[in-house]
Amino acid sequence: MAHLLSASCLLNISSSYKSYGQPLNQVRTPLPTSFTIQTSKSPFKRLVSQRDRAGRSYVVRATAAPVSQEVSAQPRSGSNQPNEPSKPQRVMVIGGDGYCGWATALHLSNKGYEVAIVDSLVRRLFDHQLGLDSLTPISSIHNRLHCWKAITGKTIELYIGDICDFEFLSETFNSFQPDAAVHFGEQRSAPYSMIDRSRAVFTQNNNVIGTLNVLFAIKEFREQCHLVKLGTMGEYGTPNIDIEEGYITITHNGRTDTLPYPKQASSFYHLSKVHDSNNIAFTCKAWGIRATDLNQGVVYGVRTDETSMHEELCNRFDYDGVFGTALNRFCVQAAVGHPLTVYGKGGQTRGYLDIRDTVQCVELAIANPAQPGEFRVFNQFTEQFSVNELAALVTKAGEKLGLDVQTITVPNPRVEAEEHYYNAKHTKLIELGLKPHLLSDSLLDSLLNFAIKFKDGVDRKQIMPNVSWRKIGVKPQTVPAN
Ligand SMILES: NC(=O)c1ccc[n+]([C@@H]2O[C@H](COP(=O)([O-])OP(=O)(O)OC[C@H]3O[C@@H](n4cnc5c(N)ncnc54)[C@H](O)[C@@H]3O)[C@@H](O)[C@H]2O)c1
Repeated sequence: MAHLLSASCLLNISSSYKSYGQPLNQVRTPLPTSFTIQTSKSPFKRLVSQRDRAGRSYVVRATAAPVSQEVSAQPRSGSNQPNEPSKPQRVMVIGGDGYCGWATALHLSNKGYEVAIVDSLVRRLFDHQLGLDSLTPISSIHNRLHCWKAITGKTIELYIGDICDFEFLSETFNSFQPDAAVHFGEQRSAPYSMIDRSRAVFTQNNNVIGTLNVLFAIKEFREQCHLVKLGTMGEYGTPNIDIEEGYITITHNGRTDTLPYPKQASSFYHLSKVHDSNNIAFTCKAWGIRATDLNQGVVYGVRTDETSMHEELCNRFDYDGVFGTALNRFCVQAAVGHPLTVYGKGGQTRGYLDIRDTVQCVELAIANPAQPGEFRVFNQFTEQFSVNELAALVTKAGEKLGLDVQTITVPNPRVEAEEHYYNAKHTKLIELGLKPHLLSDSLLDSLLNFAIKFKDGVDRKQIMPNVSWRKIGVKPQTVPAN
């Protein structure tokens, strides 16, 4: 716990509103003047030292202007009378300051949904703690939302707090009254969860309790609210049979049943997702909650239509050994002339998708909600690749741009099969209308060009993997001393 606590104490990020209100980057535009501030329990209370326990913290709700008057094409689920004009659906995006959540919040707002972001900003704290940074400069959440309002006239409400704090979450649910809650708000790095005991405990506590609180909030305050929860394809592991979408029909000793597909998670992070899925499935049965579990593949890309509108809206781009996902990481390595780092034999095969498809999939799930009591599972990816295949694609695309791309094999820090069968179904979102952006040459070109544009900001020390699955807790160098 030492690293986590000492970094939190030094930053003292939880002790006052001022800390939240102060952007991590320079403020370039004035903040809206009409924030309303309510007291609540500390959003970072589980991350901070004892001396902060008595400190006040705040729910910050951005109410700079009334919600846009535009009439949405999206019907409000179940609440309208036959002749009543349809009201826009109210969507709460939990984790809306993160990589997938930010792109999704803007996309839904652009499409006419009324959106609120709920986020503890803990992801930005992880960066400080581990000495990491997004390759792209990312603005404070306040500046992001201010810019969005200035460009589109649309307001996205903001609630800053920790969903593990049920009092905060209750206030947020009662205030915003969501028709759908899209839940991205988890610690999402497998390596982070494998650094040491404290990160493993934090990950499972944050993710499992946070999701449990969301389920209770729906039950107690908003029982028609559709939960759209981000899970991961990593929950399934790499079985030697086809992976189905959530359920498998098995005949055993002459009897047949359709059962949840077996889960074989391979990190404390992935295990937290399995626990989430089980809790959600149970509450759908017990309380009639309506839920969609999106088992998402590895996401790549930076730009969506909305994040490209202004540099202040730019999304984060992680390339480091802890938060960087495979393809994004390879593109940055190619851009700076670092060899692509293939872990082990490189036959590890996974599902991948463009971030533009993440936002599309979430919108499709919201627009076609699960029924009360239904626990629906969609495998959310568009193509599957082995690590070696990705390295070959980046090498080819890099050569076209005049880059000399080398590949090296590094000892695999993870415990995983390096050569295996992999065939995962992913038809349900296509049936709902997903139009995939496949990994074409042009997309790789643009991703590489993006990495080249920002290459001067690359910290080469962060590229190599330095968290070992086998030696958990003995890698203190993952938290740089300076
Ligand atoms: N990025 C991927 O490739 C990928 C792949 C599969 C699944 N997913 C899932 O999608 C979701 C989003 O991933 P991401 O890459 O955007 O992650 P991210 O770390 O960029 O964003 C997560 C956001 O949630 C917030 N958060 C975390 N815990 C919170 C809490 N207790 N209360 C309030 N806010 C909290 C963080 O501050 C952050 O802004 C995660 O659940 C992740 O497991 C991501």
